[in-house]
Amino acid sequence: MQTIKLNNGVEMPQLGFGVYQIPMDQTAEAVYQAIKIGYRLIDTASIYGNEKETGDGIKRAIDEGLVTRKDLFITSKLFILQAPEEKAEKTIEQSLRVMGLDYLDLYLIHQPYGDVYGAWRAMVAAQKSGKLRAIGISNFKSAKMIEFVGLNDVKPQINQIEVNPWNQRVEDQKWHEKYDVQIEAWAPFAEGHHELFTNQVLSEIGQQYGKSVGQVVLRWLMQRGIIALAKSVRPERMKENIDIFDFELSKKDFEKIEALDMKESAFFDHDAPQQVEWFMNRMKDTEK
Ligand SMILES: NC(=O)c1ccc[n+]([C@@H]2O[C@H](COP(=O)([O-])OP(=O)(O)OC[C@H]3O[C@@H](n4cnc5c(N)ncnc54)[C@H](OP(=O)(O)O)[C@@H]3O)[C@@H](O)[C@H]2O)c1
Repeated sequence: MQTIKLNNGVEMPQLGFGVYQIPMDQTAEAVYQAIKIGYRLIDTASIYGNEKETGDGIKRAIDEGLVTRKDLFITSKLFILQAPEEKAEKTIEQSLRVMGLDYLDLYLIHQPYGDVYGAWRAMVAAQKSGKLRAIGISNFKSAKMIEFVGLNDVKPQINQIEVNPWNQRVEDQKWHEKYDVQIEAWAPFAEGHHELFTNQVLSEIGQQYGKSVGQVVLRWLMQRGIIALAKSVRPERMKENIDIFDFELSKKDFEKIEALDMKESAFFDHDAPQQVEWFMNRMKDTEK
């Protein structure tokens, strides 16, 4: 698997497997299959409700000798309520316990709300003590990322944000390169929104190489130097999505994809009042 070196020297696989929206009773099997197929980067979050099952799938793969813990790169995330320093410290411990792991390879602040500075202090301490190899943020817009880098001694290694053909984040990538914060793409397929998988431009690009739309999109992210997470519960699609290292998109292909950019989220704006309201309600739900 191709890797990318983060700003603290840690090497991270460039393509990974995400478990968001995988039902709890299917997660362990999906994670196990993904590892068997060749994925080494696995992405979950406390708010996904399937950290334990993700850990179960990892344990099975290790127990069966498919991989060792060192071969894997495991990510989880801290939700808003868990942000204040002491709570964040406990949440890190809880994620480790629930997943049955001694350390996580990457831990992220999931949303740019709540006491992100308190959370960061706890994460920096956990990184120093070896519980977290890399730490980062998620869903921080470039302006917020710059503020966060400016006000902390330790800068994030990663910002996990939405990147797909409808929301290409070209300007954001330049800002992240300037500050040496690596972009990791969530929803690379925009979860199929705007009929991504049957898009004519992407299909025609793929036909030149005998590749599918999904493969074109992931290859495009690899060539942009972006880490990408793909999710599928189907082993045949998991195989398809990882089979992207034997072809190269041309400059012309890139120009055609560039023309698809709508420059806005295929889902929602993280700063929209109704979205923040939803986060707050979700936060209260998790407290119950
Ligand atoms: N930090 C954040 O706030 C955040 C937000 C969203 C996601 N994420 C992370 O990013 C990961 C990926 O994002 P996502 O799951 O939202 O969306 P995604 O990967 O863009 O899309 C997943 C959807 O595409 C389908 N699919 C996958 N491969 C396909 C293929 N080759 N052909 C046709 N359909 C295919 C899947 O269906 P099947 O499963 O039925 O195959 C699923 O419905 C998540 O799992 C999560 O780890 C993070």
